[in-house]
Amino acid sequence: MADYKMEAAKAAIKLIQPGQTIGLGAGSTIAALLALLAAEGSLAASLTLVSSSFKTTSLIREYGFNVQSIALTKSPDIYFDGCDQFDIELNALKSGGGIHTSEKILASLAAEFILIGDAGKFVNKLDATYPLVIEALPAALQLVQYQLFNHFPDAKINLRMGDKKDGAAISDNGNMLLDVYFTKLIPLDELNVLVKMVPGVVEHSLFYRMATRAIIAGPEGVRIMK
Ligand code: 5RP
Repeated sequence: MADYKMEAAKAAIKLIQPGQTIGLGAGSTIAALLALLAAEGSLAASLTLVSSSFKTTSLIREYGFNVQSIALTKSPDIYFDGCDQFDIELNALKSGGGIHTSEKILASLAAEFILIGDAGKFVNKLDATYPLVIEALPAALQLVQYQLFNHFPDAKINLRMGDKKDGAAISDNGNMLLDVYFTKLIPLDELNVLVKMVPGVVEHSLFYRMATRAIIAGPEGVRIMK
């Protein structure tokens, strides 16, 4: 079977110019892009790389490249990231990894935010297949759960558990993660604002109208959506 993630990564690397500052998200498509960059050697060595996750940062270092901290990054030329699902307006749901806060910071800083992925992730309209992931301050856990329940009584709200037997998952920022499973999504403009307004919510994983382009690879080849 064709490796569509690799095909999308090959199209992505063509958009990178020597000397640029490039932000990288997380996941297997980004890992494919990084492997291509490492193979190019001189291009990668000319870039300033910024990462939104601990895992991607480790991978970049394993390839022998430096990573600039997000806090010191003014404006990446391009931020590339994968997603779980995206739609015709380039709205995206992300963050199986619970790292959407850093991803949104980089996506917002960047001159271009380009989604890359296989065609299976594309839908006309985002649906309730994937949960909305919410990063919440630990002290606000009860409040956030209570207010989410009031806003979305039909949704299932799960505190994400960690790898250890009894511990909750902790985000890279030291916060809690809630996975909200909807039966049906409310209009995205409302969802985007409503969840963000709950005190103690650091960030949620709906990327509403943030991406500027998407590179999609599938059986019909690679296409770029704007
Ligand atoms: C991390 C993400 C990933 O980009 C998303 O899960 C896609 O991963 P993959 O490229 O492995 O399909 O949103 O928060």
